Amino acid sequence: MWQLLIICLLVPSIFTAQEKWWKNSFIYQVYPRSFKDSNGDGVGDLKGITSKLDHLARLGVAGFWISPVFTSPMVDFGYDIANFTDIDPVFGTLADMDVLTKAAHQRGLKVILDFVPNHSSDKHPWFQKSVQRIKPYDEYYIWKDAKMVNGTRKPPNNWLSVFHGSAWTWNEQRKQYYFRQFTPQQPDLNFRSAALRKEMEDVLVFWTNRGIDGFRVDAIIHAYEDSRLLDEPVIPNSGYPADNWNSLNHIYTRNQNETFGLVASWRKVLDAQPGGKKILMTESFTGLQEQLQYSMNYYRSGSDVPFNFMLLGALNNKSTPLDFKRAIDSWLNYMPAGEEANWVIDNHDVNRVNTRIGNARKDHFIMLAAVLPGVGVMYYGNEIGMDDTWLTYNETVDPVGCNAGPGKYQLTSRDPARTPMQWDNSTSAGFSTNPKTWLRVNPNYKTINLASEQNDFRSHFSIFIKLMAMKKSGRLVNATTETVVIGDNVLGVVRRPTDSAKRLYALVQNFGSKPVTLDVSAWMNIPERMRILVTNRDWKTFSWNVIDTTALAMPGYGSIVLMPF
Ligand code: NOJ
Repeated sequence: MWQLLIICLLVPSIFTAQEKWWKNSFIYQVYPRSFKDSNGDGVGDLKGITSKLDHLARLGVAGFWISPVFTSPMVDFGYDIANFTDIDPVFGTLADMDVLTKAAHQRGLKVILDFVPNHSSDKHPWFQKSVQRIKPYDEYYIWKDAKMVNGTRKPPNNWLSVFHGSAWTWNEQRKQYYFRQFTPQQPDLNFRSAALRKEMEDVLVFWTNRGIDGFRVDAIIHAYEDSRLLDEPVIPNSGYPADNWNSLNHIYTRNQNETFGLVASWRKVLDAQPGGKKILMTESFTGLQEQLQYSMNYYRSGSDVPFNFMLLGALNNKSTPLDFKRAIDSWLNYMPAGEEANWVIDNHDVNRVNTRIGNARKDHFIMLAAVLPGVGVMYYGNEIGMDDTWLTYNETVDPVGCNAGPGKYQLTSRDPARTPMQWDNSTSAGFSTNPKTWLRVNPNYKTINLASEQNDFRSHFSIFIKLMAMKKSGRLVNATTETVVIGDNVLGVVRRPTDSAKRLYALVQNFGSKPVTLDVSAWMNIPERMRILVTNRDWKTFSWNVIDTTALAMPGYGSIVLMPF
């Protein structure tokens, strides 16, 4: 009898422990150098993040992922890791990380770390030993002999780096080339070495033992390269110079089959860890069609959130409502049953959403991501509608911007999207007590900042808070998703709960600059009278008002979320 009692008590807790806590939520990306500086050195740090956890809790996000905070020479600002299991002094200490994790958990927030398996720093002791051919480290990286052409040393093949030029770097000591998909200081790790695979699994266990709730996996598409080392085909008329990564068709260096087995092996490792279900979010940045195809494989391999970058790349201010409809429908239709969709609005590698979609539509993506099913992935500053900060070439520090040179750096530099979080209108926008910060604060911080926006009920921040309340209400958990194109310029999304079709939510977005009046009730099959949950700016009506959907008068670039009446 008592055994039965124990089983009855245990079973629900096991289920709770394994719950997918990210369902129907927002996950927030913290770029640690720019979130909050606690010690006045002008660079954000872990103690700074801890001091702002109440902000994240107030937003209502399920958790946050932090770009790398590990020991690093900072050539790629943390994505070049010299020790996967320690914290870089610029960010603090392991003890600071433990404090942060505990404080986040006390507030119901999950903590997700960036796992960067594709490469290490060239300063990592593994690389140093690999150069010296010390076993088993000799095989931890991808080393190949030079190709001799007319007595001249050449790289083994035509493979290019994502960041610029040949992907091969000569090492004089080992007398071989090593492969590196990013900067020369980021040699690619060799996942065909069993010892290396084990090392990386140990990294995952190290952090989960310290209470971490999951990982965002960096650059997973690059984990393996075809071992035959064949040249990649040149894309005819690509419009890119021959040393630009986009000039090749990456059939041998991207999304190789073994990658999916690798992700599955990490899923297994994480599932064996105690302390609740761990999230695995994979970064696979490619074109729309390829992404659709491969993301589904990442789902099947155990990724919970194979980042859906359509809002971040393929869809922009030139896309029509039909492009949006097709892209959204495809993701939802292709997705394996039982998985959660996800919509990444922004990240540290691209221009901010306001630049990509235009300031007039700056609220569109966050409204879309909130209404669509699944997980919205947002970037620090999205909650206040932060803009890119235009920096001079001399102020540029991102290696991708620096590589492009003074004439072209603005096309490639990622710095504009990485400037400090704008908390208030004090020194350095409240990010640091130091007036000089690692990247300059956007001069618009006097008006665009959290402190002022939280007092303005029509601000981007207030819009976001209302959307989060809708998301967290749970009303959209079991709801169908319909996308509708209305005329040339309007997109509609209807979320119809399966249990009561009357309690539906609807989003209507005008992509055009001209006002338009439409019978969205007929087009979207929604009630003729609905209540306004939220609008973007420039509407002459307010939240909570009741509106006639048979003649919805939308301003240019208007966006509105309607809720049950
Ligand atoms: C993808 C990351 O998001 C980016 O910031 C980084 O430079 C590369 N991977 C290399 O790690």
